[in-house]
Amino acid sequence: VHAVDVIRTKRDGGRLSDEQIRWFVDAYTADEVAHEQAAALLMAIVWRGLDRAELATWTAAMIASGERLDLASIERPTVDKHSTGGVGDKVSLVLAPLVAACGAADPMLSGRGLGHTGGTLDKLETIPGFRVDLDGDEMRSVLKRVGCVICAAGPGLAPADKKLYALRDVTGTVESIPLIASSIMSKKIAEGTDALVLDVKVGSGAFLPDIDTARRLAETMVELGAAHGVKTSALLTDMEAPLGRAAGNAVEVEESIETLSGRGPDDLVEVTLELAREMLALVAIDADPAQALEDGSALETYRAMVRAQSGDPEAPLPEAPERRTFDAPRGGVVARLDARAVGVAAWRLGAGRARLGHPVSAGAGVICLRKPGDEVAKGEPVLELRTDDPGRFGHALEALSDALEIAGEAPEPRAMVIERIRA
Ligand code: URA
Repeated sequence: VHAVDVIRTKRDGGRLSDEQIRWFVDAYTADEVAHEQAAALLMAIVWRGLDRAELATWTAAMIASGERLDLASIERPTVDKHSTGGVGDKVSLVLAPLVAACGAADPMLSGRGLGHTGGTLDKLETIPGFRVDLDGDEMRSVLKRVGCVICAAGPGLAPADKKLYALRDVTGTVESIPLIASSIMSKKIAEGTDALVLDVKVGSGAFLPDIDTARRLAETMVELGAAHGVKTSALLTDMEAPLGRAAGNAVEVEESIETLSGRGPDDLVEVTLELAREMLALVAIDADPAQALEDGSALETYRAMVRAQSGDPEAPLPEAPERRTFDAPRGGVVARLDARAVGVAAWRLGAGRARLGHPVSAGAGVICLRKPGDEVAKGEPVLELRTDDPGRFGHALEALSDALEIAGEAPEPRAMVIERIRA
């Protein structure tokens, strides 16, 4: 098999054979195919897609690029959640300890920021001392002791996704149903969980903003999960506006702790509780997650997880020194605050990466001082922009030029959970 033939076949709209797919995924993982060739094939897939059979083989090849974790030693039922990526989406930081406090075990393998969306690992690494690189034994040990663990997929788990994910982040090749579905499901199937709930984002901040595409993505992933013996369901959730008030890294950890302390913003609490209920239902645990947020048991579990992963839950989080506000051009009610624009602004302020392997800023990000439905007077701040480098403000403000709509009256309140998709 030659890489150029595989790229040409897909570029011209042809079908890839099982042999071509397995070879390409293996060869790229083994550094035998160059980044530029993989990038070219990814772009061809963005345009041409993969059919059902190609996707099944592509996903199976990504899983087979590494091992599948054995969680048989965990005495509780295992269940996890994965989001297709959003702005201000810090749900994982709250949800994993929450379902653990309810009696499930969540072996959460997470990713880094991708495009305009944040990554759970980048957020957690802002906690002084926190380690995301655990081997299989340590991951199982934390999971057993605490009931949840949030870490990077070790080098042995879906290594093909690790390379492809980083490459897609910097080559404009994220937005594709087969690429997103195979990326998410290869990691989640390899982590060995019994059950999985997918949080498929819909709206401007999502990679695939429209509802029909989001539904197709959800159905595709639910089908891949079932084919590999993982009980999988999906919720389509709203991502028109940033989730909660903070978008960035440390700023989102701070908001997660507020939420675990029972003081979270309504939209974030609603999505988190709905996902928790779906997760607990899949593994037949009859517990009330709202109670675990109120009584402090979820917060205690979060602290135990941070300590178990060498972090200090009491240590102050890093803050970006440079701040500037984005003010309301007129008075009224915020009718729209565009999630993607806020995500791009946070990315440009330093919360995300511009190049493969670059570090992210711990403190950079955007704080939404007003959200849709909130009143604002002319000249009052709507957003606070934070960065380490004031040279970044101009570019970030440009991203926000059409982000805000102010109207005379409040918009209709939006349901956060739009649809539920079960196998
Ligand atoms: N999350 C992932 O893990 N992969 C994607 O491709 C998109 C979101």
